[in-house]
Amino acid sequence: MSSDKSQFDIGFQPPVQQQEPPGLQKELDPQPSTEYVPTPDGGYKLYQAAGKLKDRKAVITGGDSGIGRATATLFAMEGADVLIAYLPQEEEDAQETVKLVEKYGRKCYTFAADLKDKNNCKKLVEEAMSKLGAINILFNNHAYQMMTTDIHDLSEEQWDLTFATNIHPFFYISKAALPHMKKGDTIINDASVNAYIGRPDLLDYTSSKGAIVAFTRGLSNQFVGKGIRVNALAPGPVWTPLVASTMTEEAIKQFTSPMGRPAQPSEIATCAVFLASTDSAQLSGQTIHCNGGVIVNG
Ligand SMILES: NC(=O)c1ccc[n+]([C@@H]2O[C@H](COP(=O)([O-])OP(=O)(O)OC[C@H]3O[C@@H](n4cnc5c(N)ncnc54)[C@H](O)[C@@H]3O)[C@@H](O)[C@H]2O)c1
Repeated sequence: MSSDKSQFDIGFQPPVQQQEPPGLQKELDPQPSTEYVPTPDGGYKLYQAAGKLKDRKAVITGGDSGIGRATATLFAMEGADVLIAYLPQEEEDAQETVKLVEKYGRKCYTFAADLKDKNNCKKLVEEAMSKLGAINILFNNHAYQMMTTDIHDLSEEQWDLTFATNIHPFFYISKAALPHMKKGDTIINDASVNAYIGRPDLLDYTSSKGAIVAFTRGLSNQFVGKGIRVNALAPGPVWTPLVASTMTEEAIKQFTSPMGRPAQPSEIATCAVFLASTDSAQLSGQTIHCNGGVIVNG
């Protein structure tokens, strides 16, 4: 970690910075925490694994950076092999994720493609089956957002783009992956606190995240009786390239939670480990609100 102040301390705030979408983690200052998790005193320590995902095979979309990279790394620490999907222009970030996964002795395969194309969603699953030989964990995690304060300034193109990126691939990838998944396997969908608080300046994104919560519930009801659990994460502010590449300077200045700081990707990845492992054996159709203390209904 490259910050004077612990990124897990109350009052930690990343300096304002901006990038072109989709953003690169290597350009962020400070670097978000991937492998380090908080200690009770505001410090941090290396995540301690316990073999919770030994020899499991995981597919993670948006796995090059942010929450996806941290999840790939913690999954590897817990014993899983992974395949990460991402946009071709993020190859450098993806290779960093590969290094992190390999550092923990696991395999990391890569799949660079635009998932707005449903054929790429199907190819992703074919690639995963050919490289990993199974899909035990599917983490639908990628997303696009762009801030617009007024519905009258929100173009039809942006509305379509947001839904084409954020929810349609979750359907296509899940539909292709489920025939390969068995009892004990899990799907995790990345939603957002915004679906619950109704963030006005991200109307399209917020709506697509609401669709993800409803998709999670409906899909869970289809598969829970077959032993395949489907759950969602609804993070609050997390320090990732998505933020630096899509939020205004003012929004980055106010990028915090009731805990007095944004989360680090590692803190959301611990929740993904929980949902991927049998520690969460009694959860399906549920949403984990890893949002820094915002009380929400649902
Ligand atoms: N960062 C936050 O504050 C925050 C808060 C709540 C929810 N989330 C959710 O967390 C998830 C991960 O985001 P992150 O914050 O780690 O940011 P990130 O920028 O690290 O990851 C987003 C990834 O989505 C992928 N992506 C975007 N468009 C794509 C496309 N068309 N095809 C294929 N891949 C595409 C890219 O690989 C990109 O790296 C997203 O679903 C996001 O909505 C983030």
